[in-house]
Amino acid sequence: MQPIEIMKDVYWVGAIDYNVRYFHGYSYTTHHGTTYNAYLIVGEKIALVDAVYGPFAEEMFARISKIVDPTKIDYMISNHAEMDHSGAVPDVLERVPGATLVCTKRAVDVLQKHYPDGWNIQTVKTGDEIDLGGKTLRFYEAPMLHWPESMFTYYVEEELLLPNDAFGQHYATEQRFADEVDQEILWHEAEKYYANILWPLSRQVKRKIEEVLELGLPIKMIAPSHGLIWRKDPLEIVKRYLGWAKGERLQDKVLIVWDTMWQSTTKLARAMAEGIRDAGLTPLLRLIPHSDRSDIMAELLEAKGILVGSSTVHNDILPTVAPVLSDLEVLRPVGKKAAAFGSYGWGGGAVKRIEEALTRGKMEIVMEPFTVKWVPSAEELQRAYEYGRKFAETVK
Ligand code: FEO
Repeated sequence: MQPIEIMKDVYWVGAIDYNVRYFHGYSYTTHHGTTYNAYLIVGEKIALVDAVYGPFAEEMFARISKIVDPTKIDYMISNHAEMDHSGAVPDVLERVPGATLVCTKRAVDVLQKHYPDGWNIQTVKTGDEIDLGGKTLRFYEAPMLHWPESMFTYYVEEELLLPNDAFGQHYATEQRFADEVDQEILWHEAEKYYANILWPLSRQVKRKIEEVLELGLPIKMIAPSHGLIWRKDPLEIVKRYLGWAKGERLQDKVLIVWDTMWQSTTKLARAMAEGIRDAGLTPLLRLIPHSDRSDIMAELLEAKGILVGSSTVHNDILPTVAPVLSDLEVLRPVGKKAAAFGSYGWGGGAVKRIEEALTRGKMEIVMEPFTVKWVPSAEELQRAYEYGRKFAETVK
């Protein structure tokens, strides 16, 4: 339970949760676990920036105790009221009754609804500062990144940005810095995090990032509340966020996501994949029961488009397809190019349902749906190939 000094007088005192496999209920899979990052800034006065999830409070206190007596904490800064960061706030304020809880005005209601009242609260807004004695903490409200009450803390003298959930990843490891870990896992987890949490808020993400960039704040390090800390080229993750928010940085990939009853829809998916490949893009084939829907959304973030397929059963999609459609609807990959395909017997219905979901997700349907009755003939498979090829040409 050692703290890690991430820069002079700033310590990571968070907790590592190797075992969590779902986040936000069961809506988001976390194959690599996560961390709840809390940071202790020690000046003449002492500030704890964010806490950890409640069950990990003792782990946080054990780390803090290696640096200072926890009762010496002056400020408990809560950038975000969600329980994975505020769960241990009551533990801090019970141990240190004199400490001041610092948060946005909007956070007060949220925190008071979650936890007992009676705390010494100081609300802050953009530009407000707290002086720890030659160490200045400045606050920036960041509404909808990703809750209305969210804010960033900026340690002025050391150019350290503490943006809570923004720029995080669910990745549990003994390492603390992004440049120390497997880059493929790191970036996949960063993409997965954006796609599954921030994608529907892209407008607000874009606005806030542009606002921060316009301020010209020098940033030496970005220490988010989940996962690894960005110290080497910290603006790279900021640039990627901006690109994701604008729908840029697209890789030459097309996702084909489907489920099948008696393999007819699978035959279509494979034929379309060949067409996509021959058109110069890489098809990513994801048979839904064997694929993770949170990972599918991460892959979609940088893909040029998506084909969604299903056999028809009871005039509707296969039930396995429903959670993916639900994600596409609520995560709103606005403007992402898409089309529907599938097979049916005596009555179609699946492609209509898929198109409705794509529309609700504000995606751009670029082709009429492709359907076949019963089993695709050789001629229909050729048409599926051409369909894939045309889709690729359209989304390039
Ligand atoms: Fe919005 Fe990591 O909580």
